[in-house]
Amino acid sequence: MANAPGLVSPPASCFRMRNLAPLGLFRPRLFVAARNVRRTRLWCCAAAVDGGVEEDHVLKAAATSSNPRLPRVVGMGSKLVGCGSAVPKLLISNDDLAQIVETSDEWISVRTGIRNRRVLTGGETVGGLAVEAAKGALEMAQVEPDHVNLVIMCTSTPDDLFGCGAQVQRDLGCKNAWAFDATAACSGFVVGLITATRFIKGGGFQNVLVIGADGLSRYVDWTDRGTCILFGDAAGAVLVQACSGDEDGLLGFDLHSDGHGQKHLNAIAKDEETELISSNNGAPLFPPKRSSFSCIQMNGKEVFRFAVRCVPESIEAALEEAGLASSGIDWLLLHQANQRIVDAVATRLQMSPDKVISNLANYGNTSAASIPLALDEAVRSGKVQAGNTIAAAGFGAGLTWGSAIVRWK
Ligand code: UT7
Repeated sequence: MANAPGLVSPPASCFRMRNLAPLGLFRPRLFVAARNVRRTRLWCCAAAVDGGVEEDHVLKAAATSSNPRLPRVVGMGSKLVGCGSAVPKLLISNDDLAQIVETSDEWISVRTGIRNRRVLTGGETVGGLAVEAAKGALEMAQVEPDHVNLVIMCTSTPDDLFGCGAQVQRDLGCKNAWAFDATAACSGFVVGLITATRFIKGGGFQNVLVIGADGLSRYVDWTDRGTCILFGDAAGAVLVQACSGDEDGLLGFDLHSDGHGQKHLNAIAKDEETELISSNNGAPLFPPKRSSFSCIQMNGKEVFRFAVRCVPESIEAALEEAGLASSGIDWLLLHQANQRIVDAVATRLQMSPDKVISNLANYGNTSAASIPLALDEAVRSGKVQAGNTIAAAGFGAGLTWGSAIVRWK
């Protein structure tokens, strides 16, 4: 990837505080690990998009950041103990797409690495895939639905505007759990995973299901060859379980967002004016409107540049928190958006191709589902083994991005 001015090379700096944890989630009786007590320091990072941002934004961003974090609390750890996944039945190949837009298998596979994707049809739903994926995770973990405390449904495309986590919880029979939806686009699974560990470490939860599920095909413009070739539908899930601090499987993490880049990737709510109900004097009494969302709009080049610059920085920050170098990581597992992005990040981190998990050739970009879907395949094929460390990173609309260094089991 060329070192695009102001994007790949750091432009104006922004500051954020690191290694401070959200206060509210912790119980006062827990104590602080000496090994994690680090001096609060300023961490310098590049602005996400557009060659940097003005100084006043930089200062505001520092003041309102989700960091600072306090030193990590120990006494309780969390680990991944099960995974599962599900994809729709209908397979759409690059050749199929070449029937509806001016493209070719060669163009798509060379530029993206994608060859096939799965698309929801008939009665299939995002929630249905989520349930199937979560069942796989529970079965692998040998945890009964009754023993789940929380279901985090990471999705940008719920079957219900108000979210579908509670319906997934109902259909799984997790009657002792509560559920909510988390929306952070293609970073959703990483956000959900880290959130789950916070509920375990600070909230006393035992078993948390984290599901990444999306049906972006519902919002794809199937006449736009720049976007319709990229996306597919799927669900993946992991069960995160409480364990002792010594066994803690979340070794480090790093999260970001920057709304300045929203213009590069979005599906905006739009109001459709309906007949106005007027009062007697003709003035509108109230304007009833129905909303829907536009199709996915993307500036692919900008998103590409953002990903290859910000994702390695984020992984490096999470590795530093974990006290690891990239050479100490067994697997690199990125959001599956484009093979060229995956390769560029691996090169930057000096990780050899045989340490990279990739299945986007078969499924395309499945948004919040892509990381747990690829993890599930890698675990079930025997590639990822108990005790392996994985550097996982999500990135996408928002813009949002983040990383987690995790140990499998
Ligand atoms: O979750 C995060 C979501 N998004 C991403 O990660 C996307 C990141 N970006 C990308 O993956 C790449 O930017 C794309 C794969 C979307 C596009 O690749 P590109 O190398 O950036 O191509 P481009 O948009 O610059 O287009 C190059 C040419 C253009 O033609 P001209 O203007 O040079 O004549 C496009 O019209 O390729 C044309 N083109 C296509 N040709 C055949 C764009 N899409 C297609 C297509 N088939 N599907």
